[in-house]
Amino acid sequence: MIDLIPRRLSLLEHYADGEDSRHFTFRLETPAAADLAALPGQFFMLVLPGFGEAPFTYVSTPDAQGCFSALIRRMGALSSALFELDAGAVLGYRGPFGSGWPAFFKARRVLAVAGGCGLAPLAGVIDAASRQPEPTQLSVVYGARHAEARVLGRERARWQQAMPFIETFDRAAPGQREGSPLQHFDEVFASGMPDLLLCCGPEPLMLAAARECLRRGMPAESIWLSLERRMHCGVGLCGHCYIGSSYACVDGPTYRYDQYLELIAHCAAASAEPPLHSC
Ligand SMILES: Cc1cc2nc3c(=O)[nH]c(=O)nc-3n(C[C@H](O)[C@H](O)[C@H](O)COP(=O)(O)OP(=O)(O)OC[C@H]3O[C@@H](n4cnc5c(N)ncnc54)[C@H](O)[C@@H]3O)c2cc1C
Ligand code: FES
Repeated sequence: MIDLIPRRLSLLEHYADGEDSRHFTFRLETPAAADLAALPGQFFMLVLPGFGEAPFTYVSTPDAQGCFSALIRRMGALSSALFELDAGAVLGYRGPFGSGWPAFFKARRVLAVAGGCGLAPLAGVIDAASRQPEPTQLSVVYGARHAEARVLGRERARWQQAMPFIETFDRAAPGQREGSPLQHFDEVFASGMPDLLLCCGPEPLMLAAARECLRRGMPAESIWLSLERRMHCGVGLCGHCYIGSSYACVDGPTYRYDQYLELIAHCAAASAEPPLHSC
């Protein structure tokens, strides 16, 4: 559906949740069937009058009362203004947009790799896996620059009780794990090869994780990445989010790695652009 008209959204609360990040709870006044069917990994456009709109991922998708949450990092004008709002502020909402993570319930072993704020788009699948009875077993490897940069503090405390959840830091304090998430793959793979990788974070981390999983024998069809591109319309009209012949706002932001490689190969052939960023 081409959805360009914002709907009314109320800000219920927000609290500090990691360096320069806040956790927001919103309420859609009249949730539609599509809102209630939103999937983890999909996103919405948040409209802040006077500041425009920007895409954000659901941490939790809308419930029957229209309540949902998002983790937002202060970047520029819109997010800074949002941080200053009080509960009760009225905003605008468009969505849900894009494709979510693939259904993973048939997989026996799922590995989620997240970097920094990239934990937010994975929150819904981690929550779903922690509620799911065997045989699905989820392991998470989460990398952050340092301990204060971690996000989703309340959720992480819950997940650490429910599943193998490795946290690793670029700058570790004594007693903490150090290094990139990839440096802990031996430990994760020791108990068996994952049959699905879900990855979200800085693009170099995602690509390195994908390559490492390929090297260890996982097929590219079992590897999924969530790509961030500049987005304006969110519905495949403006062309700001092209990756090759694909609109990341409609076909993504989650992509299967083999499909991503095809798109990037198409881009490189067309423009000789370096294969890391949008083209
Ligand atoms: C599908 C999707 C989901 C997202 N989910 C989240 C989320 O859950 N939480 C969150 O904090 N952010 C998320 N983002 C990023 C967020 O939309 C941007 O940071 C947004 O532009 C912030 O608006 P702003 O006005 O505060 O900053 P702006 O003034 O728009 O940007 C500040 C700086 O960030 C750069 N920038 C902005 N957007 C992008 C981009 N897409 N790629 C690279 N650089 C960019 C700008 O060039 C500028 O330097 C998501 C983006 C996408 C595409
Ligand atoms: S954001 Fe406009 S086409 Fe994707």
